[in-house]
Order: sequence, then C-alpha cells, then structure tokens
Amino acid sequence: MKRLAILGSTGSIGQSTLSVVAEHPQEFEVVALAAGQNVSLLAEQIEQFRPRLVSVQDEAAAARLKELVPPSLTPQILFGPEGAVAAATAPGADLVVSAMVGAVGLEPTMAAVAAGRPVALANKETLVAAGPLVMALAQKNGAALIPVDSEHSAIFQAIQGQRREDIRKLWLTASGGPFRTWEASRLAQVTATEALKHPNWSMGPKITIDSATMMNKALEVIEAGVLFGLPVDKVGVYIHPQSIVHSLVEFVDGSVLAQLGVPDMRLPIAYALSYPRRIPLNGPPLDLSQIARLTFEEPDLERFPSLRLGYDAARAGGTMPAVLNAANEVAVAAFLEGRIKFPDIPRVVEDTMTAHEPRPLESLAQVLAVDRWARNFAADLVSQKK
Ligand SMILES: NC(=O)c1ccc[n+]([C@@H]2O[C@H](COP(=O)([O-])OP(=O)(O)OC[C@H]3O[C@@H](n4cnc5c(N)ncnc54)[C@H](OP(=O)(O)O)[C@@H]3O)[C@@H](O)[C@H]2O)c1
Repeated sequence: MKRLAILGSTGSIGQSTLSVVAEHPQEFEVVALAAGQNVSLLAEQIEQFRPRLVSVQDEAAAARLKELVPPSLTPQILFGPEGAVAAATAPGADLVVSAMVGAVGLEPTMAAVAAGRPVALANKETLVAAGPLVMALAQKNGAALIPVDSEHSAIFQAIQGQRREDIRKLWLTASGGPFRTWEASRLAQVTATEALKHPNWSMGPKITIDSATMMNKALEVIEAGVLFGLPVDKVGVYIHPQSIVHSLVEFVDGSVLAQLGVPDMRLPIAYALSYPRRIPLNGPPLDLSQIARLTFEEPDLERFPSLRLGYDAARAGGTMPAVLNAANEVAVAAFLEGRIKFPDIPRVVEDTMTAHEPRPLESLAQVLAVDRWARNFAADLVSQKK
C-alpha cells in the first residue's frame, strides 16, 4: 500500500490521479487531499477515499466544506497556505502528488521536499519559479522528484538505466495547440472559448491557454533543464500534432529513444505513482496503424513568441523564470476574463521581463517577493492595455 497526499485533488490532474487510485484500491490509500474552492467535489472525494486530513483555499471554503462532510467521516479540515503545507507533509504519506495550478503550489511542494517526501510533480510552475532551490532541497533531504508532465515522464522513462553524460539532447514534443496553423493576423482575434478547445488533451483552463500560446512548452523547456540537469540549449522542441510521441532523448551515439502512448494523463500519473514498477490501466491501447502518420516540425517562434521568452528567461537565469511565470499567470487570467487580447499575453510577459534585472536565486522568500513584484507589474500592464 502506498499512501498518497494529493495537492490539487479537484483539478484535472487531481481527478485523474484519483481515478488511477480507484482502479487500484489494493495499491494506494489516500491520507490527505488539498483543493481550492470546489468543496462539493472535495466532499465527494472525502466520502470515496476517506483521507484523514484535507485543506482548502480559505476559511470560507473550509466552513462550506464542513457543512457537506458527514460528521462520521471527520477528516481534519484546514485551510490556506498553512493547510496546504500540512497536507503536503501529512504524517504517513509515502508520496505527495503536487498538482495545484500555478505558483501557489510552490510552498507546499517545497515543504514536502524539505520533509524528504518523494513528490510526483505535475505543478511545473514550481520548477520554473524556483527550480534550482527545489532540486538542491530535494538532494539535501533525499526526496525523489518524479515527473508527471507527459513530456518529462517520457524522458524520465527513456533515460532509465542510461548514464546522464550520454545524453546529447532532449526533444520535447508539442501538439502546437488549437492555433498551430493560424495566420498571425487571425491570432489577434482569438476568443477564450476558442483557446480553451485543445485538440488532443483535456486539461485545466490555465494550462490549456498556455498550450495555445505555447507558453506551456516554454515552461516545460525550463522544467526539463532543471529536472534533468541540462542547459536549455540542450532542450529542443518539435511540433507533433498527433500527441503520440510524448518526448525523445538523443544520445551521444546518435541513437534516439522515444516514449509513445495515447494522450491520456492517467498513463504518466500511474507511472509516477507506481515507479519503479508499472501497473495495468484500463483504456484503449495505442493502435499505430489507426494513427498511420506521425509528423514533426519546427516551432514558429514568430507567431508563438512565448516559447522564445521561455528560452530567454532560462538563459537569463536566477529570478527571471519566476518573473516569466508570474507575469504569465496574470496575463492568462486577464485573457480568460476578456480583459486583454490573445497576443497581449506574451507582450505582458515580455514587458515584465524587460523591467526585471535578474538576481541569483537565494531563497523561497526571495522567489515569493519577486513573484509578487512581477504580478503587480503585469497587472499594471494589463490595466493599461484594457
Ligand atoms: N491537466 C493536465 O493534463 C496537465 C498536464 C501536465 C501538467 N499539468 C500541470 O498540473 C498542474 C495542475 O493542472 P490542472 O490542469 O489539473 O489544473 P486545474 O484543473 O485548474 O486544477 C487546479 C487545482 O489546483 C487547485 N487550486 C487552485 N488554486 C488554489 C489555491 N489557491 N489553493 C489551493 N488549491 C488551489 C484547484 O482547486 P479548486 O478547483 O477546488 O479551486 C484544483 O484542484 C498545473 O501546474 C499544470 O501545468 C497539467
């Protein structure tokens, strides 16, 4: 029995994680859940999985949750950042699934790592904002970081048994999002509804918009560099619209290993939960004869400048990736609320980055301060554009 603490249990990754758990009740037990505002779904999850501790975003949500949970179940109900940290360090958890969205996942993930807990990491913003700090803390405390992002899981799977120094380059695949073939002029008119329709994956709203701008791939390039200890110039991107090859590793002898599968997040989640074993999963097998064609092309950095910004932020290093991430969170929220246009998202990010002088990463407190500065700066830019 592996005991799990799941942060972001009501989100897309959280729900997929719990569906893997439900398929394998003899393998996994849930000891803690943390969510934001969706207390009705959390109450259902409490009833089904019986965690001992749960946490929600704020006191009001905790009060609403208490009304919904039958007294017979009585989990400890906490709230706010302290509650999320308590869930991340819940006594008895063998693995923490970090699947909140955005930099809000940073503190609880760091707390889990500081407590020496292995982390199945979906929350890529954590590694973008504070990657070197997280990796150093993980090493110091012997906490394994197992990627959940499908691309990083693919690389993680492909390098099992390989020597790090034999890797020449990592290749992340990207679907290209819903606007892959659109002219730049048309991109100016994109609506939130159009941007929320991802061709291959069903995901939360923030990452879906990030996929449409290709900021998601920018975040993943930074995440890959941090996780696998390589400069971003050794992390390339292929546009692969079928989303079947989840990423590739090129070795020094020219050999390339790829991992393939149907685009279903339960696969990388199940691997992260059961690593180093594999567990069976229900679902349609990959039928390559049905797919017939797998295509790969270079990304267009002119139409999708967010990807270029990701490389720029990683090369600048230090606090710059945290600025990129925070400004992007503000810009995506503003776009979803109809306050800025689609092409304004990378503009807000770039202008915030231009105003920032990166400093070497020192502490979580510094990252949180930089994150706050970037959010305020980006929010001002958004109001000007409005
Ligand atoms: N979805 C995917 O297929 C996918 C793939 C790869 C990587 N990821 C990464 O995984 C992470 C989660 O993505 P997602 O698509 O699952 O997002 P999502 O569906 O929007 O879910 C986000 C989760 O975070 C919770 N949350 C948000 N703000 C919170 C706060 N202030 N305090 C506590 N909890 C909070 C939400 O709670 P409520 O809903 O209850 O408010 C929800 O449980 C992201 O970092 C994303 O980049 C996702």
